[in-house]
Amino acid sequence: MSTTTPAKLPITDYNPARDTFRQDFIEGLSRPQKQVSPKYLYDARGAELFDQICEQEEYFPTRTEMGILRRHLDEIAARLGPRCRVVEFGSGSSMKTHLLLEHLDDPVCYVPIDIAREYLEGAGVRLTRQFPTLDILPVCADYTSRFDLPTASRAAERTVVFFPGSTIGNFTLSEAVGFLQQCRELCGPDGAVLIGVGLQTDPDTLYRAYNDRAGVTAAFNLNLLERARRELNARIDIASFYHHAIYDRERGRIEMRLVSQREQTVCVGDQRFAFTEGEHLLTEYSHKFTREGFRRIAEQAGLRPARVWTDPLERFSLQLLEPRAR
Ligand code: AVJ
Repeated sequence: MSTTTPAKLPITDYNPARDTFRQDFIEGLSRPQKQVSPKYLYDARGAELFDQICEQEEYFPTRTEMGILRRHLDEIAARLGPRCRVVEFGSGSSMKTHLLLEHLDDPVCYVPIDIAREYLEGAGVRLTRQFPTLDILPVCADYTSRFDLPTASRAAERTVVFFPGSTIGNFTLSEAVGFLQQCRELCGPDGAVLIGVGLQTDPDTLYRAYNDRAGVTAAFNLNLLERARRELNARIDIASFYHHAIYDRERGRIEMRLVSQREQTVCVGDQRFAFTEGEHLLTEYSHKFTREGFRRIAEQAGLRPARVWTDPLERFSLQLLEPRAR
């Protein structure tokens, strides 16, 4: 571990191992149900396309969450209390973080945690300019590994993990429990987790949100194959795959798929992967929860929803989780 202090941005760097796209892509294509982790959707092009998804009429989660946050900011800030240490995992939208930091009562520090150092530097510099008196203490780490939180120049009353965007839905249910457990340990007995959770709603609305008419989600999903071609020199006839997101009502989740229109072989290095006609590669789960369902998950992690804010149509929620035994 090393700490560098360029003027005002002391990044704590755990030198996390970077992604092994080749290895993971090959391993995923070798499974009976072909599957690649959604984290590989977010290269530079993917991140750009995701921002465009958020502007699509059909994709309601981002603007709905923003609306909930805006409407309830004063209550959220009051609930969190003064002198918070705010911790955020992954990139997420700094717009939401900005709003939160602006409304909190005398926040002590902001700790963005990310595996990509470039992102931390960019976000850190931007926020330092916007909040000159706030300690910005980035940590470069893989958040599934163990690490310590940096201490601010002033003592914090409480540590708050901020995890907006409903990214929790990308995990399998047991991964979600593990992640929340880690959040609880990180923030301690007086801490809190402020998390965005997509709710189960009308299946047509969900279906349209992940199969937008302009085809932006399709481009986002297909970019995974472009990336494999760019970075791995994979031989793939991308035009013979199409995007389809299905909503599995029973499991309450969206599954993003890349479906092969015909029987074909995809090559990565000297490895060959056969697709039958109609066979798909699974690229992302996006779980939607009932309030009860999410409460059970939180409880398994030793947390309980102390307060749940929603939009009028109850499509999305922002939940304040606190340790169960306090
Ligand atoms: C960024 C994970 C919250 O699951 O809705 C959007 C990603 N995928 N459209 C989501 C996504 C397809 C998004 N998250």
